[in-house]
Amino acid sequence: MNLLRCMLALVPATAYLCNDGTCHTELSASFLQVEKQRRKAVSEHPWPHARGKAPHQFGNTQEVWTDHKLSWSYHHPDGRFHNIMAGGPVIDVDKNLYLMSGKGLIALSPSGDVRWTYETPGPCNNEVTLHGDLVLGTTKEGNAFAVDRHTGKTQWVTKLAKDAGGDCGYPAAFKDVFVVGAQQAKENLTGGNWLVMGLKTDSGEKLWEYEADKPVWNLTPLFPGDDTVAFMDFSGGIYRLGLKNGTEIWRTPARESHDSFSDGGAGLGPNDFMYSCSNFRDSTGQEGQQGVARGYKLSDGSLQWERILSSPCNSYPAVGHVKGSDALAVVVTPGSFMGQGRPGLHGSVLALDAATGKDIWEFHAKPFSGLGFQAAGDFEGALTRHAAGVQEMCIPAHWSAPIIDGQGTVLVGRSDGKLYQVFGPEAQFGGSKDHATKVNSGVVAKLLDVKSASLHGALAAAPGMFAMSTCDTLFVFQK
Ligand SMILES: *[C@@H]1O[C@H](CO)[C@@H](O)[C@H](O)[C@H]1NC(C)=O
Ligand SMILES: *[C@@H]1O[C@H](CO)[C@@H](O)[C@H](O)[C@H]1NC(C)=O
Repeated sequence: MNLLRCMLALVPATAYLCNDGTCHTELSASFLQVEKQRRKAVSEHPWPHARGKAPHQFGNTQEVWTDHKLSWSYHHPDGRFHNIMAGGPVIDVDKNLYLMSGKGLIALSPSGDVRWTYETPGPCNNEVTLHGDLVLGTTKEGNAFAVDRHTGKTQWVTKLAKDAGGDCGYPAAFKDVFVVGAQQAKENLTGGNWLVMGLKTDSGEKLWEYEADKPVWNLTPLFPGDDTVAFMDFSGGIYRLGLKNGTEIWRTPARESHDSFSDGGAGLGPNDFMYSCSNFRDSTGQEGQQGVARGYKLSDGSLQWERILSSPCNSYPAVGHVKGSDALAVVVTPGSFMGQGRPGLHGSVLALDAATGKDIWEFHAKPFSGLGFQAAGDFEGALTRHAAGVQEMCIPAHWSAPIIDGQGTVLVGRSDGKLYQVFGPEAQFGGSKDHATKVNSGVVAKLLDVKSASLHGALAAAPGMFAMSTCDTLFVFQK
């Protein structure tokens, strides 16, 4: 089956070799030279990864949200519940968007036309990433793959392990190394991965593998810009490895939280900091349990501050400037998981001083009680999705990962099916108020109805463009 897929997919290659699920294209030296030059020219993708530009992935953008209006949206032609999206879009230098779904990878033009679709080697619930002309991803069958962004044709497929977790991961690439998770963890919880691996982006060949103390869930590799990679495990433990060799540089277990679980991850700051938002003690992200935000020195992994949060943290930090303070901010979004069989789930958006962890402001959203105690769109879409042969429910965390725009507005999707635009202190709010405006603790937010919940990688930005995918629909906003 793998062999057949490899053979079918390698149409433009001059020769191919498929062995044990691994495909290598053998191309002439001059062709490779031209390829290399072409790739250099496209190294500046505006949103190549779920958390933004690599290296850094601060979860922010210089684009100004309020300058943009809804331009188009995309869902499955038979109806929005006939497919399920994984994570959200990445955006290339030509403003094409790439979105993983239960029915394969979808490439869309800046105006919303489907350019090509790609059947992944095994079901996939991970967001893809861009590296040069490649769209890179991994599947639940433990395969990694590379597709040409222009043609949608396979460049290589590598079998990494017998399987990989069904969680929604955000594998990432930098300096010709694609960092991925594989080998599903089956202890206490099924999902996540035991192994983190570095692959060559041009061939899929494995360079190294690393076994974390605890499984990685929704693995999100972060690149400081040198030859290293950093990430978080599901208890909040953080790691920094050599990007090219997988050698451990440091590793910091989560203080007093070895038995906790979070499906969130870490973020980097421009200040030699790495931030995590996860759960405290034995918290597994449920209502009434505690979360924790931590700031570490990136250079040695030492804990600089810790903030115990009254709600669990199942999300990612965003780092940038918000209104209400000149200091660098880290924004975290505490909130408990969906599907707990109970109403009244609390969620908030907190802007903290990035150097100290002290409050800049807090916005507390109205407690959410979903239909069937599920996220918006999950209960409503389950039967249609079942019939369509895709995963029946999205079961997202409380919030998507937030991003901070060029004017300090925080954007974040919530499981109530709303995009929260949190503007900061009321005194500095220049916009007009209407029925969608909420003020809490002196902080102004506007809610935009997008009907369904979204996963962590929902949001993306490029020059003159914002994009957001819910679990069923991609919305694109343009200038
Ligand atoms: C499973 O749970 C036990 C008991 O809480 C704990 O000691 C162990 O570390 C857990 N394993 C994983 C992989 O989290
Ligand atoms: C691995 O890579 C790191 C980062 O470039 C480097 O500092 C380290 O010396 C390398 N280790 C080995 C054993 O090559």
